[in-house]
Amino acid sequence: MVKIGQIELGEFPLLLAPMEDVSDPPFRAVCKEGGADLMYTEFISSEGLIRDAAKSRQKLDIFEYERPIGIQLFGGDIGNMVQSAEIATAARPDLIDINYGCPVKAVACRGAGAALLQDIPKMVKMTEEIVKCTHLPVTVKTRLGWDESTKNILEVAERLQDIGIKALSIHGRTRVQMYKGEADWTLIGKVKENPRIHIPIFGNGDIDSPEKALEYKNRYGVDGVMIGRAAIGYPWIFQEIKHYIKHGERPLPPDMNERVRATKKHLEFSIRWKGDKLGVFEMRRHYTNYFKGINDFKPFRMRLVEAPTEAEVLAILDEVVSTYNGTVVAA
Ligand SMILES: Cc1cc2nc3c(=O)[nH]c(=O)nc-3n(C[C@H](O)[C@H](O)[C@H](O)COP(=O)(O)O)c2cc1C
Repeated sequence: MVKIGQIELGEFPLLLAPMEDVSDPPFRAVCKEGGADLMYTEFISSEGLIRDAAKSRQKLDIFEYERPIGIQLFGGDIGNMVQSAEIATAARPDLIDINYGCPVKAVACRGAGAALLQDIPKMVKMTEEIVKCTHLPVTVKTRLGWDESTKNILEVAERLQDIGIKALSIHGRTRVQMYKGEADWTLIGKVKENPRIHIPIFGNGDIDSPEKALEYKNRYGVDGVMIGRAAIGYPWIFQEIKHYIKHGERPLPPDMNERVRATKKHLEFSIRWKGDKLGVFEMRRHYTNYFKGINDFKPFRMRLVEAPTEAEVLAILDEVVSTYNGTVVAA
């Protein structure tokens, strides 16, 4: 049984990665149903939370059915991170996650996210202060290191464990690599092999099929995997991996009825959380993903992204079901 503090996550938990502008409550609702064992909010700016910025505050919204769920924070100032961790704690998540992995300039060049990989003493101090300020388990998500010549994840893992983090998720790239090339899990495996390490180690990067999840589980010995992009428009990835690990074969991929059902649920939650107009509007970027690989879908997609109301979107989705009538498309 993998545990983060007192949170029990099963034998080989599958985590939904935090993704800005993606892993909001509507998206999380479909991923939870799809079998995600632990989910995170999008990252939240510590400065934004302290300023009471509406956008950051809204990201604190979590719902009972989402548990266990972590709130992810980022920032470059220790005092602000502590203060934001206290605000996040009051929102009653199951854990607080610190982002030491974000590579984008707006974050890393302001001393936050992956920038902390260049200043390990500060990273350790920041983490220690956050661990001290909350009764919740604190976890960290980071990368292998800043660049090819400074892959310091082995040291980082030990030092963060020593000051009390309860789990570590590692993305198998450096900051300099951004999202390019293939994720290298070799060092993730080495962290896991380290006899001093006793907290759960979750591997992240490029898991996009049940076969790869099982192969990496066996090869690198991680306690679970964190999945990001492969879950976008395909929340079935979690159940497929579980089924594959248990039975050695993939279940049937979702047919058109199922794809439409999940899309409708996502839309419904989107409207419930964001309101009619924004809910319909922000759902538009998801249609391509839910119907990837479907022959001749383009005319439907064009109509879906132009439909101005929920009723119109639902009518088009019903038409999709009757047109494709149970079509199954391999993932
Ligand atoms: C659109 C997008 C937004 C992301 N936002 C965050 C974020 O808010 N916090 C974070 O720690 N990582 C973020 N990431 C990184 C992912 O959590 C994950 O590490 C990365 O996508 C690699 O995993 P994957 O290959 O399974 O997608 C983001 C990635 C993407 C594609």
